[in-house]
Amino acid sequence: MKRLAKNTLFLLSSLLLAVFSSCTCKTDGIIRTQTPERPDGQKDVLELALPPIDTVRVGFIGVGMRGESAVYRYAHIPGVQIKAMCDLHADRVENCQRFLREAGMPDADSYAGSPDAWKAMCERDDINLIYICTDWIDHAEMMVYAMEHGKNVACEVPAAMNLEEIWNVVNTAERTQLHCMMLENCCYDFFEMTTLNMAQQGLFGEVMHVEGAYLHCLDQFWDEYEGNWRMTFNKAHRGDVYPTHGMGPVSQLLNIHRGDRLQYLVSMDTKAVSIPAMLRAKGDSSEVANGDHTMTMIRTVNGKTIQIQHNTATPRPYSRLYECTGTKGYAQKYPVEGFALSKGTVSPDDVPNYQNLNGHRFVDAETKAALMKKYRSPILTDDLEEHAKEVGGHGGMDYIMDYRLVYCLRNGLPLDMDVYDLAEWCSLIPLSALSIENGFAPVEVPDFTRGNWNRVQGFHYAM
Ligand SMILES: NC(=O)c1ccc[n+]([C@@H]2O[C@H](COP(=O)([O-])OP(=O)(O)OC[C@H]3O[C@@H](n4cnc5c(N)ncnc54)[C@H](O)[C@@H]3O)[C@@H](O)[C@H]2O)c1
Repeated sequence: MKRLAKNTLFLLSSLLLAVFSSCTCKTDGIIRTQTPERPDGQKDVLELALPPIDTVRVGFIGVGMRGESAVYRYAHIPGVQIKAMCDLHADRVENCQRFLREAGMPDADSYAGSPDAWKAMCERDDINLIYICTDWIDHAEMMVYAMEHGKNVACEVPAAMNLEEIWNVVNTAERTQLHCMMLENCCYDFFEMTTLNMAQQGLFGEVMHVEGAYLHCLDQFWDEYEGNWRMTFNKAHRGDVYPTHGMGPVSQLLNIHRGDRLQYLVSMDTKAVSIPAMLRAKGDSSEVANGDHTMTMIRTVNGKTIQIQHNTATPRPYSRLYECTGTKGYAQKYPVEGFALSKGTVSPDDVPNYQNLNGHRFVDAETKAALMKKYRSPILTDDLEEHAKEVGGHGGMDYIMDYRLVYCLRNGLPLDMDVYDLAEWCSLIPLSALSIENGFAPVEVPDFTRGNWNRVQGFHYAM
């Protein structure tokens, strides 16, 4: 019954996507989608700051693989109370209560047993943050419902799967003037954060081209997802279905909707071979729409380029690429982490061996270590870094993300990532599919700020 409801929802959302995608026109060979008018009286949420929240009182929806680790991290963040947890399975909620007990917190109220149990949790008046870790299909509906019931909301990646959902989430955030953040943890990787700081200090000159990706063979994981939601989505959709780990950190490097904006994209995919073969070996002969490897190229208004890749099908070492190409230097995280800088980009006080800098090769290990230390992100302190590595979550970056969200809420500051980041990064899902399904045609990327992408100048953390 539960599966039936889920599949019906899934079909409905595919239908809505088809309807919304049909609201497109093609002129000059470029596909353009419709940007809904901002309703009268509604204003944007750029740099939204709300009154400080003394205690962040959280309700979690979805405590499966990802949600369980989120609850563990929140039990280690100062200024947090975990008021409620919801899952389809009561035993998963019960399993997470141990983290609260270990931290000396009272048990959270449990919501389970129905796919709609989360709604009652959102309707409570003693929760001020709803944290969503369910599968992709319900994210947008849950975010909208939570905001409509007065809650700030944070949602796992990707937070919205088609343009209809994206615009609905943007409009709800603007109408309710509440925080709506996608939990893009890769923006808090230590190397990415240091590189961002170096870019902001001008070490790479003008950043011209960036690359990001999600290249992760999921063979070990496909069968672990509740009700097979991830495979079901991949079977039905072409395009980059998981672009945000690649998009997040590189969009911050390019100050997207903070002085620049995404303008056009073109996507291509390979045919689907590996996943259909894997399924056939298990006796499943269903069609798979999603190609083994998908590439998207984006050009920005300021003449920068972005390349994003997706491959969860073929065996290869994990990679998010993360490349930053500037007029004076270069950084890359995968497959080998390093920086290359032209002579004269750093002063002798900055790094050892500064006189040997050479744009042809990576700086040596000693110089890299000195750069990592000197250009550590301004949001980090020794204590925070140590605690984050202790609590963990992808080496600590997940903890930093959660810590920052709580810190900003408690101090009444704008969040590091806003609803327009969510919209831009998720928009690759429908737009890459539109490009591919129309002969790999160029597609215009909507301006989700509806005209205000140039008002904030440069990405920065609120402190
Ligand atoms: N940022 C990262 O590094 C990262 C890593 C892994 C997963 N994720 C994301 O986290 C999300 C969850 O992934 P996962 O691997 O934990 O999947 P999962 O299938 O293990 O967990 C999903 C959980 O949500 C619950 N759920 C589903 N529908 C529900 C409903 N209506 N009400 C209450 N609970 C419901 C399920 O019972 C399950 O426990 C996905 O968006 C995924 O992309 C992100």
